[in-house]
Amino acid sequence: MLDVREDFPVLKRRINGHPLVYLDSACMSLKPKQVVNAMREYYEVFPACGGRSIHRLGEEVSNACASARERFARFINAAESSECIWTRNATESLNIVAACTDLSAGSKIVTTSLEHHSGSLPFVERARRDGLKIEVVEARPDGTFDIEDWKSAIDSSTRMVSVVHSSNVTGTIAPLKEIVEIAHDRGALVISDDAQFAPHHPLDVQALDVDFSAISVHKMCGPTGMGVLYGKIEHLKSMRMFLYGGDTVSDVRYEEGRILPEYLPPPEKYEAGLQNYAGIIGAGAAADYLQSLGMDEIEKHERGLLERALKELSDMDHIHIVGTDDTNIKTGLVTFTIDTIGAAHDIATFLSEEYGVMIRSGWHCVGPFHYQLGIDPTKGSARASFYIYNNIDDLSTFAQGVRALIEMSS
Ligand SMILES: Cc1ncc(COP(=O)(O)O)c(C=O)c1O
Repeated sequence: MLDVREDFPVLKRRINGHPLVYLDSACMSLKPKQVVNAMREYYEVFPACGGRSIHRLGEEVSNACASARERFARFINAAESSECIWTRNATESLNIVAACTDLSAGSKIVTTSLEHHSGSLPFVERARRDGLKIEVVEARPDGTFDIEDWKSAIDSSTRMVSVVHSSNVTGTIAPLKEIVEIAHDRGALVISDDAQFAPHHPLDVQALDVDFSAISVHKMCGPTGMGVLYGKIEHLKSMRMFLYGGDTVSDVRYEEGRILPEYLPPPEKYEAGLQNYAGIIGAGAAADYLQSLGMDEIEKHERGLLERALKELSDMDHIHIVGTDDTNIKTGLVTFTIDTIGAAHDIATFLSEEYGVMIRSGWHCVGPFHYQLGIDPTKGSARASFYIYNNIDDLSTFAQGVRALIEMSS
């Protein structure tokens, strides 16, 4: 098991006298000292503007940010660092692809019933705006897919596929490589929503051959307000721009009353204006931190916790687990409902206030899958998610709390 709790000072907190048990990492991970220190160094030692200012401090920022991009690119095995664009979050990464790729009238986009709203809505709206077709591959109730459904949904008119690599509700890992092969065979591009995958499993964008990947840096020990859009360089070069302005241009001529811009190639093309330098530096530090633990070790650690959590919950009456219990195809999270409790928020409030256990409740921004399963989205489901700093004691406290709640309510 990993032993990194000392890196996370917040774990020393107590909530109503109980040691903090943080089981909401699928929403937002905690931040290790290594990341906070890297960002503090920026603010205390060289808090200047990168790119534009050529003085000493500006140069230090530029170098630190270029190095962070290199290290992040290595973390996901991108072919070159300019394939990694800094964004505010995975939502922005998905929106850039939905808004800026060339999708001609009459072409089709394929997505799934299991997508996070950030993976489906940008494409639903693009389709609505430009009169494109959109087809939804329905996940099975356990969150897995029938590959035959992909083969029939992706046809020669399909230009884009948006698929969640690891679901934030069921934790199930999609057969991405097979989906990419089917899509490429039929001339479609694939964006993989790696918000939940990248923090927990080794991600190799070249081996998977995905065209784009959307990553939440704030879910992988990095700072809030940071995400990454990975894109194959040829796509990033040909796509439309998202924001126009400072730092995106190599020249802006003025001739006969006309302003004539010439734009830079990626990544600058997609990074207009002054950047979140501390966030970029923190993202590089987060990639280093996870790399130093080893993504295989992280996966193993979480699988152990997941097996234990599934066992604890499946021994209880009135619990329904949402999604598969096959830990070979599941990221470290468990979503569940309790028969005797109306709204999932009541489960989260009870565990927080009575046991110091932080879990997530609601519809997890995945309304369609809740409707598909017949779970009233206003009541929602409860989700406990695990990460590198959780241990077996955390799971015991969580299970104790859930058991107590069931006893009280039955
Ligand atoms: C599967 C999935 N996709 C996308 C997102 C959106 O990520 P972000 O908050 O970085 O925009 C989330 C966030 O929870 C998610 O779980």
